[in-house]
Amino acid sequence: MTYLLVAGLLCLSAVAADAQSSASARLLAAPPVLENLSSEPGVVEVKITAAPARLSLLPGVETDVYAYNGSVPGPTLELTEGDRVIVRFRNELPHSTTIHWHGVHLPFEADGSAFHPVAPGEEYVYEFTVHPGTAGTYWYHPHPHHHTAYQVAMGLQGAVIVRDPDDPLAHLSERILFLTDNRFTAEGAIDFAELGSRQARVDAENGREGDVIFVNGQVMPTLEITSGEVQRWRVLNASSARTYLLSLPGHGFLHVGSDGGLFEHPVRTDEVLLAAAERVELLVRGSGNPGDEVTLRSLPYDRYLPQTRPAEWTDTLELLTVRNSEESATDPITLPTTLRPIPALDPADATVTRPMVLTKNRINGQMMDMSRIDEVTELGATEIWEVENLVGMDHSFHLHGVQFQVLDRDGEPEAQPIWKDIVNVPKRSTLRFIVRFDNYPGKWMYHCHILDHEDAGMMGVLEVRPPEP
Ligand code: C2O
Ligand code: CU
Repeated sequence: MTYLLVAGLLCLSAVAADAQSSASARLLAAPPVLENLSSEPGVVEVKITAAPARLSLLPGVETDVYAYNGSVPGPTLELTEGDRVIVRFRNELPHSTTIHWHGVHLPFEADGSAFHPVAPGEEYVYEFTVHPGTAGTYWYHPHPHHHTAYQVAMGLQGAVIVRDPDDPLAHLSERILFLTDNRFTAEGAIDFAELGSRQARVDAENGREGDVIFVNGQVMPTLEITSGEVQRWRVLNASSARTYLLSLPGHGFLHVGSDGGLFEHPVRTDEVLLAAAERVELLVRGSGNPGDEVTLRSLPYDRYLPQTRPAEWTDTLELLTVRNSEESATDPITLPTTLRPIPALDPADATVTRPMVLTKNRINGQMMDMSRIDEVTELGATEIWEVENLVGMDHSFHLHGVQFQVLDRDGEPEAQPIWKDIVNVPKRSTLRFIVRFDNYPGKWMYHCHILDHEDAGMMGVLEVRPPEP
């Protein structure tokens, strides 16, 4: 069966090109890709060094940053299901750090959580094998205890793309949109609020947001599309706290994937909410005349407490110009209605329902303690986690090492099972997800992915134990 993507999905309207976008139009460029140093088939071996650098993030200004292999964002790790992966990491930062492979199903020793810090000058080797069925869009970032927000804001983050050798959308041309935000002083330094200032309190409450939005490290770049062409966008929100409500005004997206890869069935939608650390895959179809432009925007979304809600929260943010290229229209494309089967985990298999109550910087009333185990389960167990947000701002919930399926939100069942590793929990709401702890024993962190909340202790530890002999 095929799914015909009708011409109306995205009609680029004849928006008059405004002077600013045509003058400064820089074409969107993908981040660099990590070079595979292995010649063995099925083995990916890469080197990553984290070190201070001085780069131009804003046009014409140099900024002191921390960079992976000298670039912000860092280079993309390209993998295929089944690959054996060896990452030789070297820490040349003045602080200890880690690389966490956000969302990837891998052994505890390779998770790069705060349990495996890498001291300045030291090296660490992350080794794992990419599981079949896990093709999707992931990312990597530091995870040192209490200092994640700072290191990420300084520039440490990069994308991981896992491909399926039988990808049903492999014929589409692909773009990565790696979203970050940052804040700068008048001199162009990365701006952190002064201790004890009002801004410091706002950042602690909201999570630090920046007024400059970057796509792949570029400010308001231009992405070209040909009329009739369908592009696959992998959108990653690598921001520390900012939530995006994506829209292409007057048009739409075909939403085909989330954190853990493709859906079973595509969903047509006009807006997509993307909380910090979430990923989506969107299909966008170009139509209209050469030179027509439309702006990818983020619409206002109120995730805030009234006391610290930024005055500009109602502003619409512009992320990217989508411009019709001069090339002639391509033929309409057909897409499968079923992208891949996703078996639903069965609540009848769950051995326990675990409550997770979110309040200010706490989960179940506790602040993170590295020496405490908060929850224990057995390898192979299926569980339901009930995440309840008791406060008046959104928090998110991320669980390391596994993908889960949301069952319901405030009692409303999800439309289809999809794989996720992070979920936004809106103010005063409850959601339930189901998860199975396969393959890897160890200590797995769960936390809010608003990084200032995580650093302040909004985190806990689940230990997955091998069954008693
Ligand atoms: Cu992306 Cu524990 O984090
Ligand atoms: Cu939070």
